Amino acid sequence: MEFSVKSTSVAKLRTACLVVGIFEGRKLSAAAQALDGASGKYLTQVMKSGDLEGSLGKTLMLRGVKKVAADRILLVGLGKERDFNEPAFRTAACAAVKALKGTGAADATFCLTEVAVKKRSLGWSVEQAVLCFMDGDYRFDQLKSKAADARRHLKKVTFQVADKKDVSAAETAADRAAAIGEGVALAKDLGNLPGNHCTPTYLAEQAIELGKRHGLKVEVLEKKDCEKLGMGCFLAVAQGSRQPPKFIVMEYRGGRKDAPPVVLVGKGITFDTGGISIKSAGEMDEMKFDMCGAASVFGAMKSIALMKLPLNVVGVVVATENMPGGNAIKPGDVVTTMSGQTVEILNTDAEGRLVLCDALTYVEKYKPVAVVNMATLTGAMVIALGHVATGLFSNNDELAAELIAAGERSWDRAWHMPLWDDYQEGLKSNFADIPNIAGRAGGAITAACFLSRFTKAYPWAHLDIAGTAWKSGAEKGATGRPVGLLTHFLVSRAA
Ligand code: BES
Ligand code: MN
Ligand code: ZN
Repeated sequence: MEFSVKSTSVAKLRTACLVVGIFEGRKLSAAAQALDGASGKYLTQVMKSGDLEGSLGKTLMLRGVKKVAADRILLVGLGKERDFNEPAFRTAACAAVKALKGTGAADATFCLTEVAVKKRSLGWSVEQAVLCFMDGDYRFDQLKSKAADARRHLKKVTFQVADKKDVSAAETAADRAAAIGEGVALAKDLGNLPGNHCTPTYLAEQAIELGKRHGLKVEVLEKKDCEKLGMGCFLAVAQGSRQPPKFIVMEYRGGRKDAPPVVLVGKGITFDTGGISIKSAGEMDEMKFDMCGAASVFGAMKSIALMKLPLNVVGVVVATENMPGGNAIKPGDVVTTMSGQTVEILNTDAEGRLVLCDALTYVEKYKPVAVVNMATLTGAMVIALGHVATGLFSNNDELAAELIAAGERSWDRAWHMPLWDDYQEGLKSNFADIPNIAGRAGGAITAACFLSRFTKAYPWAHLDIAGTAWKSGAEKGATGRPVGLLTHFLVSRAA
């Protein structure tokens, strides 16, 4: 899909479809007013007839409107003008994308970017619109024997902006958004691919592929390499699986040669059965998404490489399955981490923190300016924040504020959770330095506390994406979050 920006008079525009907004109370946006004037008050008539009142997300397609050059006009309800905020814009834009998908239009001119969103710049609206279009265009049909409907009509989208002098800012936003959208799509593809296809070996191959295409230096540490490094905790999780584990390192060097990097670390459990502490059967298929942290590392690396961001970034993916079996770890087992600390594995289903802790120790060697890890770490995170905000934990308040701000800008939001010493109390073991679980209370926080034992050498943040990385139900699928947040964070670091 191609995106461009224009500032022209809409009535004369030759396009397959003009997308224009209407507020509740039959209030016309600027583009709608222009079309209404040109067509002899046709839009006013349509609204008077009661076919569209302007309620948020409702659409009406008009064809062959006289004195208007466009083949179609798609009217989109924007809701109440004074409530036109971020979710309202997204609802309207996504409704428009959906309505457009049902037509044969090969190009469209999108005028909702003309309408100001409360407290937001034009760049924000353009970025969100691009992401809505790319989201609508996304499909995962690589495992269907025949594609349901391979036709993709819409190829070109032009954003209409009110003022000519805003065109170049909008173009910059569209280009950046398209790069984010590519990263999001990659993260979705990897997340959606099931465990029998998306194995640790597959992820390693994808990293090599990504490296070839975008000039990243890629290194894959095998089981024996990890043994030499003393990654006893990561390998303990991997020992129950027949799939060989992979520790994947991707280096993007866009910054100064000697500048220490930002490091991203992703949990890459390609399937989480729970191990010997096995999960119940309901929705267990969704544990193929337990590598969405890893997927977001791939996605963010792709986005910043497409943007040619002037920054050094290292992406690390710790990949293994978590399986039961004759060789699997058992509750009560004690293992030694790369840091030297010993861990009593009281529950084999708390495996994410076990693989991450060794990765968090490994990345010390980069003397990173910041380390951010992404993980579908705890069911408790879903209970705490639902499916809207990602949980953010950090040992550094400035880094936390930066990430929260990046989430706000990208509308891929995170919420700052406490990581107070008081919560460390629960991590006591009679047989090792620490257990891998505390009580049920505050489960997302105590999981973060476990990780914090391995991140003392650098500013660090942990994003628990258990509630935000995928959707369940009829629209089951990976969301590609938090690629938007990460990319915005890295863009602001590069500036
Ligand atoms: N991958 C899961 C977390 C998860 C569960 C994410 C459900 C999204 C939906 C993780 O490995 C896990 O199993 N965590 C346990 C930890 C518990 C044993 C302390 C959990 O949350 O139940
Ligand atoms: Mn688990
Ligand atoms: Zn897991």
